[in-house]
Amino acid sequence: MTESNMETVLHENRVFNPPAEFSRKSHLKSMDEYKALYKRSIEDPEGFWAEIAKELHWFKPWKQVLDASEKPFFKWFTGGKTNICYNAVDRHALGPNADRKAVIWEGEPGDNRVLTYKELYHEVCRFANTLKSLGIGKGDTVAIYLPMIPELAVAVLACARIGAVHSVIFAGFSAESIKDRVLDGRSKMVITGDGGWRRGSVLELKSIVDKGVADCDCVEKVLVVPRNANGDRFDCDMRDGRDVWYDEAGKDQPDECPCEELDSEDLLFLLYTSGSTGKPKGIMHTVGGYSVYTYLTAKYVFDLQADDVYWCTADVGWITGHSYLVYGPLQNAATIVMYEGAPNHPDPGRFWDIVDKHQVTIFYTAPTAIRAFMKWGDDWVDKHDLSSLRLLGTVGEPINPEAWMWYHRKIGKERCPIVDTWWQTETGGILLSPLPGVTPTKPGSATLPFFGVDAAILNPDGEEVETGLLSIRKPWPSILRGIWGDPERFKKTYWCNWNGEYYFPGDGARRDKDGYFWVVGRVDDVVNVSGHRIGTAELESIFVEHPSVAESAVIGVPHEIKGQGLVAFVLLKGDDSEGSDALRSELNAMVNEKIGKFARPEKIIFCADLPKTRSGKIMRRLLRDIATGNALGNVTTLADPSVVESLKGKYKD
Ligand code: WT7
Repeated sequence: MTESNMETVLHENRVFNPPAEFSRKSHLKSMDEYKALYKRSIEDPEGFWAEIAKELHWFKPWKQVLDASEKPFFKWFTGGKTNICYNAVDRHALGPNADRKAVIWEGEPGDNRVLTYKELYHEVCRFANTLKSLGIGKGDTVAIYLPMIPELAVAVLACARIGAVHSVIFAGFSAESIKDRVLDGRSKMVITGDGGWRRGSVLELKSIVDKGVADCDCVEKVLVVPRNANGDRFDCDMRDGRDVWYDEAGKDQPDECPCEELDSEDLLFLLYTSGSTGKPKGIMHTVGGYSVYTYLTAKYVFDLQADDVYWCTADVGWITGHSYLVYGPLQNAATIVMYEGAPNHPDPGRFWDIVDKHQVTIFYTAPTAIRAFMKWGDDWVDKHDLSSLRLLGTVGEPINPEAWMWYHRKIGKERCPIVDTWWQTETGGILLSPLPGVTPTKPGSATLPFFGVDAAILNPDGEEVETGLLSIRKPWPSILRGIWGDPERFKKTYWCNWNGEYYFPGDGARRDKDGYFWVVGRVDDVVNVSGHRIGTAELESIFVEHPSVAESAVIGVPHEIKGQGLVAFVLLKGDDSEGSDALRSELNAMVNEKIGKFARPEKIIFCADLPKTRSGKIMRRLLRDIATGNALGNVTTLADPSVVESLKGKYKD
């Protein structure tokens, strides 16, 4: 956790009550109501979750709500058969909401597409039949590497429909990252696009996929979705026998396709995220529990009502896009907005233009975006009418109170509650958050646990403390089911503390006198850059592949816009301690190639030595002190204390 975050949140004591006007119409209206329901959910989680699950469609009811017999491999709603695509699409398309808008899509150049629930239903069915015609069936893994076009949501839902496991790869990842994920998940197909617009240019996804899957024996088909629905295509190479255009393969497919009746514990998706080793982990989520949890959290945290237009700015490539762009809101029959491009294209007012144009009522984004808007200036906001907004949300990293206040005043005009939602890829859904009609908010605090979430702050001995490690005592329905192919790593990463009785998310937090949680940040070697998790070990293992590099240590440092940025200390072979700009570019290019541009460090510092303990362990804490200009902590355990002084000098230069 960074010192500066800790400082600001420690001194924050403003409280904002939910506006009476908001609470009058919200699903949940009072703290008493929250407390009673919360108590019930903790005392009788199985009764609570069974009642909620009944609001969804099951082909066959479950036999047992929670099976903890193989803890920590929890199972929910065992024996039950369901399908999240049925709950997100069919339920509405075949009922009174058939003509309600499901997706309002806006392309970066300004083109729009709208799909009603009925149209979405037929699109998903047609896509599902196309997948089947290309040999995809239940249990097959399908990698999806698409821009933010409607077909991204359609593809995900189509996989869910037929019981194929989707593994979405954010379209900013490199060919090498695609390869790692495709091989790890043994993807049989990759769905990609001919292009997508980003800051006025076309991303050439297909050629990146071609490079990524060149040596992947498991890939049988590459399905290429044209960005444009009007028949225009961007050029790309198609390989005979492997590559198929979606508009050709899909055009004569029937637009009806039955939903596969899946076991509650059948795998729904894999989503890769960074941990503290060099290898990203394939987080596993299954059908039943994930459906129930994302349905309820979306309903209550975003207070979804029939006339809402809900916009989550996250890409479907991240968990936020899975749970709160696609599955959660659609299960609630919401109208979602999906935007293809950059927030500042053609100008920094683009998001507010979209809010105005589509009359967005609920807006969910990341602190890093909020800080960027603050920097771009209020004029871009003031040009647009934001009066349709009624609720704001944030996710991805701690929000500093300054950004929270700006969001509250400038975007919410002091009338929209803000929900600061804390959760992770692993948790599947929101665990800590205000309920907008209920919870008084404090800038920078994710406030209180959601129903069924038994959160605590513990020290390493398992005692409850004010400041320490965040932990969750009971399993909730959308808890990760494992790390694909690595059950040992699953146990070691999340269940190693406190005799395996608590889930350990890897975050540090504080709890105030009102019981509010203030999450301060990661306590492991994971850095949160613009809301994206990057393991420092991932970068370190890339750098040491360079023939001139002996060793490296990467740390996270506070960054004005990104929340955290990466700084790399690189030790060269031989006695070169100066390096060169050329070498710096080579290392940056390696990061581009192995992960993607977004993981590039802010600074690369070449050095003669790294601060190490006598047993040879790199003292990252000292590197962080050097980078942040803090007083140096204890240096007496260092093998060679002079190293630090020379690094301090280097860092200043
Ligand atoms: C990590 C999870 C959850 C979707 C996006 C990120 C940090 C997330 C908050 C918040 C403070 C937050 C945590 C967490 N984080 N939301 N509201 N306040 N920190 O998902 O990539 O799995 O990252 O993001 O450190 O562990 P993710």
